[in-house]
Amino acid sequence: SVQNFCVLFIICLVIIIFHDNNIHSSLLFCCFSLLQIDHFGFLEDGTFKQRYLVSDKHWHQSGGPILFYTGNEGDITWFCNNTGFMWEIAEELGAMLVFAEHRYYGESLPFGQESYSDSKHLNYLTSEQALADFAVLIQNMKNMVPGAQNSPVIAVGGSYGGMLAAWFRMKYPSVVVGALASSAPIWQFPGMVPCGAFYKIVTQDFAKSGHNCDANIRKSWKAINNISSTASGLQWLSEVFSLCTSLKNKADAAAFKAWLQETWVNLAMVDYPYEANFLEPLPRWPIQVVCKYLSFDSPVSDYQLLHGVSQAAKVYYNYTGSTSCLNISQTATGSLGALGWFYQACTEMVMPMCTDGVQDMFEADEWNFQAFSDECSAMFGVRPRAEWAGTVYGGKDIASHSNIIFSNGGLDPWSSGGVTVNISASVVSILIPDGAHHLDLRYRNDKDPPSVRAARALELQYFREWIKQAKKVN
Ligand SMILES: *[C@@H]1O[C@H](CO)[C@@H](O)[C@H](O)[C@H]1NC(C)=O
Ligand SMILES: *[C@@H]1O[C@H](CO)[C@@H](O)[C@H](O)[C@H]1NC(C)=O
Ligand SMILES: *[C@@H]1O[C@H](CO)[C@@H](O)[C@H](O)[C@H]1NC(C)=O
Ligand SMILES: *[C@@H]1O[C@H](CO)[C@@H](O)[C@H](O)[C@H]1NC(C)=O
Ligand SMILES: *[C@@H]1O[C@H](CO)[C@@H](O)[C@H](O)[C@H]1NC(C)=O
Repeated sequence: SVQNFCVLFIICLVIIIFHDNNIHSSLLFCCFSLLQIDHFGFLEDGTFKQRYLVSDKHWHQSGGPILFYTGNEGDITWFCNNTGFMWEIAEELGAMLVFAEHRYYGESLPFGQESYSDSKHLNYLTSEQALADFAVLIQNMKNMVPGAQNSPVIAVGGSYGGMLAAWFRMKYPSVVVGALASSAPIWQFPGMVPCGAFYKIVTQDFAKSGHNCDANIRKSWKAINNISSTASGLQWLSEVFSLCTSLKNKADAAAFKAWLQETWVNLAMVDYPYEANFLEPLPRWPIQVVCKYLSFDSPVSDYQLLHGVSQAAKVYYNYTGSTSCLNISQTATGSLGALGWFYQACTEMVMPMCTDGVQDMFEADEWNFQAFSDECSAMFGVRPRAEWAGTVYGGKDIASHSNIIFSNGGLDPWSSGGVTVNISASVVSILIPDGAHHLDLRYRNDKDPPSVRAARALELQYFREWIKQAKKVN
């Protein structure tokens, strides 16, 4: 209790979540917990304030379960807003909801504004430290909150947060009784899956969303190379794409292509069956809308092709009609901490990706660890350790664990590194063929495909089972 900043739920923030014209939650308490900056050494004795959000509206105070969101690389309120599944099952489970922010993101900055200033300050940004934060936070809450002592805790997370949820159960099985790891690519590490699998899925999404869609995107890179080879071509591209800053040279053209590539990847991640705003505001089945502009049958000029590409890109960046220009330094919401994630990729989260232009619709680009490592060294003064994630989290050898659900969407490129086979009776995989990135964690919607409804029902069934098991032990 001394350790804890938020004695008995002080209201710091009231969030009301509107969804489908329903008010979903009344109060969300925003709390801060004092945690060690370094859990694993004894020299650095400083502490920092970690933010977490709590809703106890539906909680059965005598041992009702706690659903604990293992926050990923961004502002926790944003993940909280986009994890409707937890809000929707809280009532039937009598559960308390906790959303814990990952250190170095949102407001949970170990060294305040200095946190990103250099590699010394960044040194405590690791998944191991984040998991230890979560474990200590839960221990503190159990000590402090009357009735929570025997509450079984279930970890829930999506994407990197899903990886953390799974690893949390693996590393701290006495703290959480089970984990739902949605769209969690725990195998997207060196030597575990083919590096081309990710972009192959992106390509399949475009191939099945419109006539010639993938083929025309495949052609667009050469067209960009051709057009961007002259100053007038660069100017033309800048105008047609309504870029905020005009392309000036070869390096700008390369950055432009990388930005377009990331745009198609993001679309694959958020190819949801209804209008939504996760990375950007988008129409339902956004790739189908994008592909309407890319269905050229016969050969067209580079200009015509790229004009279509620009219209397609604007579906992603200007669905609301309120975007004045396209910024090639941005591909998604500002709620994500891109710099922090890049640092993590440059240290332990080494995820090899490659393209060949044949099985995918991108320019061929091999995975080059040395080049990546050099880039990391130049940017942060640190080099990645390619093997570490496999060593610390067990790689593909996870059969000795228990009570983990890995759910994956068939449209989601990250399913390439996910667990898509059943490992054991209690380490299970749930497939959602027409789901994109963690669709199951979102609010239910009338347009949800049956596969995601079934997935949520099964997840809830496992949760009940784990809660029952925990009650027997206590
Ligand atoms: C979360 O939702 C609340 C209420 O709708 C809103 O005020 C807040 O800005 C949202 N947070 C983020 C990061 O999107
Ligand atoms: C290549 O670009 C030039 C203008 O820069 C254009 O005249 C030509 O038609 C383009 N090539 C193709 C195959 O479209
Ligand atoms: C976005 O859409 C609006 C409305 O159609 C349009 O006026 C505006 O020019 C578009 N912005 C860009 C960058 O194309
Ligand atoms: C483009 O995005 C970058 C990165 O978020 C930002 O720093 C810059 O100000 C933006 N430029 C414009 C013109 O909006
Ligand atoms: C794993 O087992 C569960 C329970 O039997 C089943 O519902 C699910 O479809 C299986 N997953 C896969 C990928 O076979």
